[in-house]
Amino acid sequence: MEQDKWKAVDLYLTEKIVRPDNAVSAAYRSSLAAGMPDIAVSAAEGKLLYLMARMMGARRILEIGTLGGYSTIWLARALPPDGSLISLEYDPKHAGMARTNLANAGLAERVEVLTGNALELLPALKGPFDFFFIDANKDGYPEYFRWALRLSRPGSVMVFDNVVRGGRVLDAASSDSLIQGVRRLNDAIAAEPRVHATTIQTVGIKGYDGFCAALVTE
Ligand code: SAH
Ligand code: DHB
Ligand code: MG
Repeated sequence: MEQDKWKAVDLYLTEKIVRPDNAVSAAYRSSLAAGMPDIAVSAAEGKLLYLMARMMGARRILEIGTLGGYSTIWLARALPPDGSLISLEYDPKHAGMARTNLANAGLAERVEVLTGNALELLPALKGPFDFFFIDANKDGYPEYFRWALRLSRPGSVMVFDNVVRGGRVLDAASSDSLIQGVRRLNDAIAAEPRVHATTIQTVGIKGYDGFCAALVTE
């Protein structure tokens, strides 16, 4: 019942003020039609990523976990004409779909999707990036945090998706590597004085989860 209400409000807000355009919606539909899992961020979350990247004037964005490029399109739209986005994706099928969706959205020139295990791709990247969106395998979040910090500058922003997981983040004894990954991310953030962070719990079309936002201060 609560989920029905969260979803209805999300749909109302999406139509009223989020207003995803055709290219964004087409990317979502074609990814689903190609059999990819329904795990992209919601339209409201995609718009928040777009707004955050735009508010901080991001010129270089790094995304980890592309899927069909849905969040990538939202983020790339926030870039100035000479800005760029790199997105890392393990599954070549997902990367291929993302490249098609990005081309259809007119963003092929600003975005590069690199195929492979993020941990193997990250060492070859040159920073600094202004904005990071981290949304790949959750057991990798602590390592992705360390890499993002290495590839950042004072003022860089990081956003991590799926950090509440229906409240299961509280379960310190969880045998789920996803939960342990998020908990170790929180430990790493707590131990890093250069990073100021918060997590906002979210409800909506994607259920009950959360976004972690972090600022690198020095
Ligand atoms: N950010 C996307 C959703 C990403 S889903 C959106 O909101 O639209 C998570 C993606 O991470 C999947 O496509 C999965 O294949 C990819 N992934 C999982 N493990 C990975 C790894 N080790 N390196 C790179 N990508 C990975
Ligand atoms: C899953 C991954 C995500 O990034 C997400 O937003 C929702 C679900 C998953 O792997 O189940
Ligand atoms: Mg996610």
